[in-house]
Amino acid sequence: MGVFASTDDPVSTGHEQVVFCQDKQSGLKAIIGIYSTALGPALGGTRFYPYASEDDALADVLDLSRGMAYKNALAGLDLGGGKAVIWGDPEQIKSEALLRAYGRFVESLGGRYYTACDVGTYVADMDVVARETRYVTGRSVEHGGAGDSSILTAWGVFQGMRAAAEHVWGTPSLRGRRVGVAGLGKVGKYLTGHLLEDGAEVVATDVNPKALAWVRSNHPQVTLVDDSSALVAADIDVYAPCALGGALNDDTVPALRAKVVTGAANNQLAHPGIEKLLADRGILYTPDYVVNAGGVIQVADEIEGFNFDRAKLRATRIYDTTREILHLADAEGVPPAVAADRLAERRMADVGRLRAIHLR
Ligand SMILES: NC(=O)c1ccc[n+]([C@@H]2O[C@H](COP(=O)([O-])OP(=O)(O)OC[C@H]3O[C@@H](n4cnc5c(N)ncnc54)[C@H](O)[C@@H]3O)[C@@H](O)[C@H]2O)c1
Repeated sequence: MGVFASTDDPVSTGHEQVVFCQDKQSGLKAIIGIYSTALGPALGGTRFYPYASEDDALADVLDLSRGMAYKNALAGLDLGGGKAVIWGDPEQIKSEALLRAYGRFVESLGGRYYTACDVGTYVADMDVVARETRYVTGRSVEHGGAGDSSILTAWGVFQGMRAAAEHVWGTPSLRGRRVGVAGLGKVGKYLTGHLLEDGAEVVATDVNPKALAWVRSNHPQVTLVDDSSALVAADIDVYAPCALGGALNDDTVPALRAKVVTGAANNQLAHPGIEKLLADRGILYTPDYVVNAGGVIQVADEIEGFNFDRAKLRATRIYDTTREILHLADAEGVPPAVAADRLAERRMADVGRLRAIHLR
């Protein structure tokens, strides 16, 4: 969700349930936020982060869990939106006991919330959490998990970019287009591969010398530039932010030469109003939470018993969802970010309402 202002008041944000969990001995302090279970159990990762205060941790979990409800709704999943935060420095306090204590709190919710990895938590951590709860995804392949979710995240971003290309240039192909990839990490690397395969020219940057070296040896045809400011100002057709949040801000949007922005990074819009600035400049922005849903689609598939082909098929549909959002945006005269929110809210209302049909 790009246009949601943080607040630390769960009543005004409309969350269903917010649970505070503590295990003094292991040092666990966690907050689980469930925004909506209208479409099914709430799914969202666990962020392990040294927040400055409990208020900061609460504000983050409220924002993130609401965002997951919208993301899961538009990903076509039968899942609601939730998220959890563990308040503390993972380097200092992460332990088997802490993770298992957390797993027991997740289990205590009886399946209303499924967890997964996020910033500060990894596949190996989810394997530990899974020793105490059934309601966990993002486990290792050896434990029946989906493994590296960046594979389908990149695939989904590529599908969203194809839909944007069709909308702007009339053909769902990046052939002959110059695409600027900011961030050659797990997702950026796979995305670069898809783009090159499709016939695009890739211009890229990263702050990590190892990532640059990887691209030089694996894709020598990629042009590397000094930093993301140089990339934004470069003569590119598409900008793909695949590093940190806030890539689209008051400095970058006026400088951007691309006609399309489609990338993996979460929270690309630095603040509410940036989506309008993009629209005013005639830049088509495909909402981040729509196009980067391939990762959650991949881990959600674990709930049914992981099947890569089925998950990939679902991630491929990000192309159709992005098209639908762009058409709705045109029809309703709003930026795509607003159209995406409306579509997600419609699905939550229309499909969520069906639970009112009494079965027995
Ligand atoms: N991995 C997933 O499945 C997934 C799913 C949804 C969203 N995302 C989001 O996509 C983004 C990328 O995820 P990832 O898994 O590839 O992360 P990653 O940490 O593997 O890669 C990020 C890359 O960006 C680089 N980077 C950092 N700051 C930069 C800067 N200022 N300029 C250029 N490069 C910079 C890093 O060096 C790193 O190589 C993140 O915002 C993440 O939240 C990832």
